Amino acid sequence: MTNFLIFGPPGSGKGTQSVKLASEFNLIHLSTGDMLREEVAAKTELGKKVEGIMQRGELVPDEVVIQMIAERIDSNPDANGFIFDGFPRTVDQARALDETLTEKNTSILKMLMLEVEHEELVRRLLLRAEVSDRPDDRDVNIIENRIKVYREKTEPVIEYYRKDGKYLTVNGMGDIEEIFNRLKETIAAYI
Ligand code: AP5
Repeated sequence: MTNFLIFGPPGSGKGTQSVKLASEFNLIHLSTGDMLREEVAAKTELGKKVEGIMQRGELVPDEVVIQMIAERIDSNPDANGFIFDGFPRTVDQARALDETLTEKNTSILKMLMLEVEHEELVRRLLLRAEVSDRPDDRDVNIIENRIKVYREKTEPVIEYYRKDGKYLTVNGMGDIEEIFNRLKETIAAYI
């Protein structure tokens, strides 16, 4: 199995690039944000529990996303590998992911960090708000809160992978194809 993490602040292009990378390298794309939005749309008990948290741009409890990810890994035993998008977002999530992957005799190969300027993150998310129904994109204060939560709670995950030599940065500024080519070149050096 070949597993990658795509990492970066809200609006850095994790989702956009993960879809393309999954197709290019035959990986399964696992996005906790997408999974949680499906729960909200289906009005499940879990969806009702997390809806307000997501609308405020806060993180849902670790145990919720850890369980979701473990179930998806379990239900794809023949996968060539996974690309994790928006997970792990805390050091506890990173530890749990390591444990789950170790049980399957696999691990994270590399963390790919998309580096994007703050103004560009906000610009992209406000632009998406014009065409999508994501409530967390509609208010610039919520966007800023998501970025703040990322800086405070999620950035420490970088050190978790950096100490194992797994952390790589990729310039996330520019057009989508240009960034995809940078990611492809970076990944190709390791598989
Ligand atoms: P999640 O869905 O993960 O949202 P996010 O991290 O805020 O990320 P985004 O989807 O907004 O940005 P992205 O980096 O994926 O960029 P994208 O490709 O979409 O999480 C949502 C919420 O769920 C969280 O706030 C939290 O509440 C909860 N949650 C999720 N996972 C969790 C976890 N593990 N633990 C706890 N809580 C969790 O691009 C954004 C826009 O920019 C798009 O319109 C796109 O078309 C555009 N774009 C992309 N690339 C470019 C480019 N190069 N040039 C111009 N536009 C571009």
